[in-house]
This record gives sequence, C-alpha cells and structure tokens, in this order.
Amino acid sequence: MSNSLQQPVLENAPLLDVISGRRPQNIPVWFMRQAGRSLPEYRSAREGIPMLEACFTPELAAELTLQPVKRYGVDAAIFFSDIVVPLVALGLKIDIVAGVGPVFEKPLRTPADIAAIPELQPGQLDKVTQAISFALTELGNTPLIGFTGAPYTLASYLIEGGPSKNHENTKALMYGDETAWNALMSVLARICAEYARLQIAAGVSAVQLFDSWVGSLPLADYVKYVKPHSDFVLKAIKTAGAPRIHFGVTTGELLPAMAEHTDVLGVDFRVPLDTAAQRVGRQTVLQGNLDPAFVFAPKEALLSRVDQIIHQGSAAAGHIFNLGHGVIPSSNPDALKRVVDRVHETEVPEYYVADQV
Ligand code: CP3
Repeated sequence: MSNSLQQPVLENAPLLDVISGRRPQNIPVWFMRQAGRSLPEYRSAREGIPMLEACFTPELAAELTLQPVKRYGVDAAIFFSDIVVPLVALGLKIDIVAGVGPVFEKPLRTPADIAAIPELQPGQLDKVTQAISFALTELGNTPLIGFTGAPYTLASYLIEGGPSKNHENTKALMYGDETAWNALMSVLARICAEYARLQIAAGVSAVQLFDSWVGSLPLADYVKYVKPHSDFVLKAIKTAGAPRIHFGVTTGELLPAMAEHTDVLGVDFRVPLDTAAQRVGRQTVLQGNLDPAFVFAPKEALLSRVDQIIHQGSAAAGHIFNLGHGVIPSSNPDALKRVVDRVHETEVPEYYVADQV
C-alpha cells in the first residue's frame, strides 16, 4: 500500500507510532552509523571498494543498509550513504578517507568559489534513489530513515577542506563576510532540501538532518547565522510529507532552537533526556542518547545505563532509543545487540501526554 508520496504505509512500525503520538508496541531503537566497520559482514562486503563507490553502487548500498536490521532487529534502517554524497554528485572534488572523513581537494575561500557551486539537477542522484528502492523491497515493515547533512556541517567540510576541531576558517567567513556566508548557506540549504526530497519521493519514511558540528556555536550565533538555513531544509522536508529528526553534537545550549521545526529532536549523550525535555518542552519526541563508548563497558553497567535512559526518556511525549552519536567502529556488535534486546524487553513507559484542552 502506498500514499500519494509513494511512501509505503507501514502498519505497526514502533518508530512511526512514536513520532505520530501513538503508543508503540515496543520502544523503538536504532543506532546512528549502525551500518559500518563494527560489523564483520560490512567489512567483508566493502573489501577493496572505496566508500564513495559503495554509496553510488545501488545493490551494495542497499545491502549495507539492510545488514544491521538483519543482525540487530532494530526498528529502523538508516539509508547507507554519506552527507557529502550530493556534493560529490554535483562534481565537487571530495573524497572520504578511511579514519579521517570527507576531504575536499580545493577548500572554498572566496565569494567566487561559492558562486561556482552548482545547483543539484534531477537525475544526478539516480543511483541513490535506486538504492532506496532496492532496500525498500527487502525491508518490509521496517521503516527506512533517509538523511541529509545540514548546511553548517557541510559548509565546515567545504571551507576547512576536511574535519576540523576549531572550525576557524568557517567562522572567519561567517563572522567576516555575512553576504558570502549567506550565499553559501543558501545554496547548501537548497541542495540539502533537494537531496531530502528525492529520498522522500523514493519512499523513505522519515528524514534525519545531521548537523554534527553545529555545537561549536553559541546560541545567538546559531540563531543568526545558521538556524534560518537549517529551518529552510526542515520546512522543505515537512512540505514533502516526511517526519523530521534534527540532530547535532554538543548542542545542549541549542536544543530549544533546534526543536522549533522538527518532529523529533536528537540529543547527544551529554544532556540527560529528562533535562532535554525540560529545556525544549515535554511535547517534543526525543531521540537518544547512550554514550557510544558505554558499549565498551561491562554488561551490567551498560544495561543499567540503558534502563536509566529509558526512564529519563519517559519525561518526553515519546522516545526513540539511540546512541548519543554514531557507533564507534571498534564496537562489539554483541554489545549493541544486547542494548537492542534490553530496549525491546522493557515495557513501554507512560509518556508525557499534553493536557487536553
Ligand atoms: O549507518 C549509518 O548511519 C549509515 C549512513 C551514514 C554514514 N555517514 C556512512 C559512513 C550516515 C548517516 C553518515 C553521516 C555522516 N557522515 C555524518 C553525520 C553523522 C555524524 O557522525 O556526525 C558526518 C559528519 C559524516 C562525514 C563522515 N563520513 C565521517 C566523519 C566519516 C568517518 C571517517 C572514518 O573513517 O572514521 C565518514 C565516512 C563514513 N560514512 C563511513 C560510513 C559507514 C566509514 C567509511 C568506511 O567504512 O570506510
């Protein structure tokens, strides 16, 4: 069955139930970066195949998307791709270097560099939409989450030329040339919105906006320089008909601003979920927030932290269990499986229900 958006209508999908305010059968759980080097089946499927080549090979991208669902029984698949994929499709010279991340050969420095960024054209991401179709045929009732990077995080990679601790060149442009900054953020926002829209048209059930590096900004600067552009993407996702998850790292101070145009707010492991619920209002569904390093702790400590997070999550209108950031590549898959099983064995708590007026 599908609606006018080609999105499959999934019955009894706990993730979608929670987002829609319905009581789920079980607490939904999935992990950011659940597909990846922590899985032996991932390492063997990827052997000798560079990351970006994998992203543009539909059968392989679909297989990698499905692997963690088969192994863990998680309540959602996250589409196997990367935040730089739409930029690569545009022809920007980006590579993903193992152990480093995205590296951009010719970092953006001038307004002319920014003006030269093309718009995303229909057809440039056909391999991505094909991969989504392949994954959907095998996923059955498990929702597929699509995603896009957010303009700030992508801008940082493009300006710094790679991962950055201080984001100093990014901030130099942001604080020093507002016109060039807004031009860059606007074109990136249009690219991100288009990337999200084509995933929704291909059938993903929700879209997560990853703004991994935005926690490097104070609130006032986030609101002034970044939020309008992220909101542009979030509004486009809503218009295209999919629920939204908005996530960043070290965003404790930014959470209320990030919650404004989203259906689910991702919380990293530094802010307890009940504190996050107080900060953003208890009507917001939260996602998170086990420290990915906790997976390395002894079983008893791990499971008792899982229980604590479930309890803290019950302060919100709904809770999707996840890590507070991506799976660490050296994680033991058995420990992650224990987390999934514990979440599934736990009775769904009474979530906050807004007062009926
Ligand atoms: O399971 C999933 O979540 C699959 C999809 C996914 C990947 N990257 C696959 C990937 C998603 C959602 C991303 C998002 C992404 N990519 C973000 C936002 C999330 C976050 O972690 O903050 C960011 C910042 C990137 C940029 C990026 N790409 C980094 C920092 C890295 C890691 C570099 C490394 O080797 O440690 C990548 C590469 C990447 N993206 C890998 C995977 C599975 C590892 C590549 C490999 O296996 O060789």
